[in-house]
Amino acid sequence: MGNFFPRWTNWLVLKLAIALFFILVGVSLGVSYYFTPKYTRVGYEPTQPVPFSHKIHAGQLGLDCRYCHSFVESSSHSNVPTNQTCFNCHGTGKGNIRSNSPKLEKVIQAEATGTPIPWVKVHKVPDYAYFNHSVHVNRGVSCVSCHGKINEMEVVRQAEPQSMGWCLDCHRNPENNLRPLDQITNLNYDASQLDRATFYKGLLDKGVKAEEIAAEIPGGGLLEKAPDLQQILALAEKTYGGAVAQQEVGLQLKKHWQVSPPESCAACHR
Ligand code: HEC
Ligand code: HEC
Ligand code: HEC
Ligand code: HEC
Ligand code: HEC
Repeated sequence: MGNFFPRWTNWLVLKLAIALFFILVGVSLGVSYYFTPKYTRVGYEPTQPVPFSHKIHAGQLGLDCRYCHSFVESSSHSNVPTNQTCFNCHGTGKGNIRSNSPKLEKVIQAEATGTPIPWVKVHKVPDYAYFNHSVHVNRGVSCVSCHGKINEMEVVRQAEPQSMGWCLDCHRNPENNLRPLDQITNLNYDASQLDRATFYKGLLDKGVKAEEIAAEIPGGGLLEKAPDLQQILALAEKTYGGAVAQQEVGLQLKKHWQVSPPESCAACHR
């Protein structure tokens, strides 16, 4: 019996095998490329048209983030300020701080011509993922958790990967990042700066039951009857030590503000 298939088919099999090999190598290279920090854009620091410094304005001058990013609490999108905000201080009119500085040339030009300064966008999630600023900021997540210490940056650079894994890391353990709402734009905040008595009294004043507060402190669920503020403070000090701890604040806020970030695909991919 002769060979049923002509000779060249042996080569076809080999060619297919080689092609398959390259496809697999290509895919795995592609995957590692997408998931390495370079692709996640940490450190991305584009040159801006005007050398605007957050270190001067938010750090030294102490301007609140919301003075310029005024929609961050009320909108899904956080705005970059319009020229008008800069003219409050740098215009040629009454506020004319250093208005003859060469660094402000483009700002003065913008005032004269009425054209917006073409700021280069730094942070961006792809269009297929849904992100909303106000839900995060109003639930106790600070700018610093997602943008780093902007108040110390001369030029804004991306501090966190903002990849899907990064979003989910926090969604699984939000207690590591929750803080009182009046501290959201204080990028130098640390839980140890809080006064423990004020923090727990604040929860009690909001109507949270003392036994529910105690139950969130490891060992506190074993108390026989409802504790008072002094007993809660003693218990917290025994568990967490003299200074207020992030876990301590985070677990209380997560429980009593009922914070439960979604992990289902449909929450972020709508
Ligand atoms: C005086 C106005 C002003 C204040 C105050 C200010 N910003 Fe900005 N911010 C800007 C301008 C203008 C830009 C766009 C130029 C740039 O990236 O530097 C910007 C850009 C940013 C960006 C990058 C936006 C992007 O393209 O991804 C972040 C993040 C940011 N600011 C966070 C903050 C935080 C956090 C604070 C408070 C600590 C703050 N800003 C305070 C004016 C301000
Ligand atoms: C509340 C007032 C205020 C606002 C609003 C403000 N600035 Fe400033 N800016 C200052 C002060 C004060 C300085 C420091 C001046 C100095 O060093 O003598 C400064 C410095 C600067 C400088 C450096 C100037 C130099 O010659 O070193 C630039 C550039 C600048 N601002 C851009 C902006 C832009 C762009 C905006 C709008 C997004 C803005 N500023 C909004 C008060 C303000
Ligand atoms: C939970 C994470 C998170 C928090 C908290 C957060 N941001 Fe953002 N921010 C992002 C992401 C993600 C983007 C990119 C959004 C996009 O592409 O639509 C962004 C974009 C921005 C931009 C650029 C908007 C634009 O379209 O140019 C500014 C400005 C900004 N954030 C400021 C702030 C300020 C100020 C705070 C605190 C009051 C804050 N952010 C808190 C994650 C966060
Ligand atoms: C540092 C913590 C943190 C990070 C980082 C974070 N989130 Fe969240 N997210 C939260 C918290 C807290 C909530 C509020 C949950 C609640 O209200 O119960 C939330 C809620 C949400 C919601 C539900 C509310 C809504 O808008 O429908 C979505 C969607 C969401 N996050 C998307 C994202 C995406 C996308 C990213 C990454 C680009 C991200 N988050 C990064 C903490 C975080
Ligand atoms: C908390 C929000 C969040 C949840 C929940 C989430 N994703 Fe994503 N996903 C994102 C973000 C943000 C990106 C964009 C990441 C980037 O820019 O690097 C993304 C990217 C992706 C991508 C593209 C990956 C790439 O490298 O290009 C796929 C596929 C995906 N998600 C599938 C899913 C599936 C399936 C689920 C459910 C198991 C899910 N996602 C749940 C936020 C989320």
